[in-house]
Amino acid sequence: MLRIENLTMKFGGVVACSSFSAEVKRGQIVGLIGPNGAGKTTVFNVITGVYKPTEGQIFFHPRDGETHQLVGLSPDRIAKLGICRTFQNTRLFGQLSVLDNVFIGNHLRLKSNVLSSVLRIPSYAREEREIYEKSLYLLEKIGLQDFKDERASSLPYGMQRRLEMARALATEPKLLLLDEPAAGMNPQETRELTDFIQEIKEEFDLTIFLIEHHMEVVMEISERIYVLDHGVLIAEGSPSEVQRNAKVIEAYLGVG
Ligand SMILES: Nc1ncnc2c1ncn2[C@@H]1O[C@H](COP(=O)(O)OP(=O)(O)O)[C@@H](O)[C@H]1O
Ligand SMILES: [Mg+2]
Repeated sequence: MLRIENLTMKFGGVVACSSFSAEVKRGQIVGLIGPNGAGKTTVFNVITGVYKPTEGQIFFHPRDGETHQLVGLSPDRIAKLGICRTFQNTRLFGQLSVLDNVFIGNHLRLKSNVLSSVLRIPSYAREEREIYEKSLYLLEKIGLQDFKDERASSLPYGMQRRLEMARALATEPKLLLLDEPAAGMNPQETRELTDFIQEIKEEFDLTIFLIEHHMEVVMEISERIYVLDHGVLIAEGSPSEVQRNAKVIEAYLGVG
C-alpha cells in the first residue's frame, strides 16, 4: 500500500532521515521505532506532505491498479487520497465537545462546498445529517458515546487519545499513521490501546504504520518493524528478528 524509496530529509545541516526505504503492505501493522530524534516523525511528516523531502519517492496504492506519487502533493490532497495521521501530542479541540471533534474530522469528506453551506442547500443539510450519524457511530465503536457532550479536554488522557483516533477514522483513511499513540499512558491504558488498535484495524479495514516507544505494544502488534537510528535504517524484520538484532540492542533496547 505504501512504498518509501530512498527518502532523505535535511533541515539545513541536520540530516533527519537518510536514504530510508520501507514498505507497508495492505492489511499490515508495521512498526517504526528508534531512539528520540531518530527521524521517525519526520518520515510521517514527509508522507503526509508537511515537508517535501530533499530526495526520494513515496508511492501510495490505495487500491489495485491505482498508484500515487505522494511527493509534491499537498497535505490536503494526500489526506483525501486516504492517508490520515495522529500526532505525538494530542491535537484535539479541547473546548469543543467530544462529538464535535469527530464531526470536524468528518468534514474533510464533505462533498458540498462552502457556498452550498452558506446558502443552506438541501444536499448540504443531508450531508450534515449523515455526518452527525456517522460521528455518533464512530463514538459508539470506540466506546465514547456516553461522553459525546463532554468537553474533549475533560476526558481522561487515554480516552482523549482514542478520540483523536476516532477523528482520524472519520476521514475514512485506508492508511492510518499513528505517532506514539501510547505516549503518556499508564500500563493499563497501554494494554487497552494495544487491543483497540487491533480492533479498529479489523473494523475499518485499515493498514497501519505505527511509531511507538512502548516496546510491548510494537512487538505485540507489528508484523514487521523498521528501526531508525540517527536517520539511518539499522534493522528491519519481524519483531523477534529485530529484538535479537545486535545493532538495535545497542542503539535502542539497551538504552530504554
Ligand atoms: N522542522 C524541523 N526543522 C529542523 N529540524 C528538524 C525539524 N523536524 C525535525 N528536525 C530534526 O530532525 C531530527 C529527527 O527528528 P524527529 O523526526 O522528530 O525524530 P523522532 O520522531 O524519531 O524523535 C531531530 O534532530 C530534529 O531536531
Ligand atoms: Mg517523534
